[in-house]
Amino acid sequence: MINEDLRQSDIPSLDIIQDFQLIENQPSHVAIIMDGNGRWAMNKNLPRIDGHKAGIAAIFPLIDVIINSNIEHLTLYAFSTENWNRPKSEVDGLMGLLEEAIMKETDSVHEKNIKINYIGNTKRLSPNLQKLINNSLEITQSNTGLTCNIALDYGGREEIIQAIKNIIDDNIKSVDINETLINQYLYTANIPDPDLIIRTAGEQRTSNFLPWQSVYSEYFSTEILWPDFKPNDLLKAVQSYSTRKRKYGKL
Ligand code: FPP
Repeated sequence: MINEDLRQSDIPSLDIIQDFQLIENQPSHVAIIMDGNGRWAMNKNLPRIDGHKAGIAAIFPLIDVIINSNIEHLTLYAFSTENWNRPKSEVDGLMGLLEEAIMKETDSVHEKNIKINYIGNTKRLSPNLQKLINNSLEITQSNTGLTCNIALDYGGREEIIQAIKNIIDDNIKSVDINETLINQYLYTANIPDPDLIIRTAGEQRTSNFLPWQSVYSEYFSTEILWPDFKPNDLLKAVQSYSTRKRKYGKL
């Protein structure tokens, strides 16, 4: 059970909120590869699933800061197409935690005017998880605050393959294929490209996360393991982003 742990969402300190507000040139879309849950648990001699529980709990204090910032989109890499290859016990445990988190947190997310969105092939998920997903989509669809995109059974290559199949099935002529059209066929249609992609746990890989959408994203990698990633660490990532000069291939 994640129950109380999940509710320990600290009210963010005013200092952090003010520090955020002082940053000029904030990213509008932040995407996060939440890595290191397993290592966090191992370091504490805990089962891996406890790392995932702590990983879920780490999200909420960040959201409380983000809704007070200029960030409009948050995308979280919750489960990749490759994660199905983990031992069944870990996959089942993670799916159970996802169900619990969506079931228990949708109302509080809704109260914060957050719109939930999912990217990935949700059809492979259990009927109960699909039901919870649809329910959270329905409840939050008219919200106008932060959009939180949860990448669930998401793989960038699969997303592109699916887009190509749908384009062919729709009899689109090659002359009409361009970036705008492809954008419309991706899971991320109507979501702007990520400005900043954060990866925790010291890894320097993109791991099939938003390959089409990230061509001009700025990356920020930190050694901190995901369950230990705090609002202050997000602040550092955003401060780093704010100093970068994005050239998009130009001078
Ligand atoms: C990577 O750590 C993390 C995952 C595979 C799962 C991340 C998922 C969550 C934190 C849940 C998100 C939930 C919602 C509702 C958005 P790892 O297990 O690969 O860590 P390791 O590399 O240290 O083993």
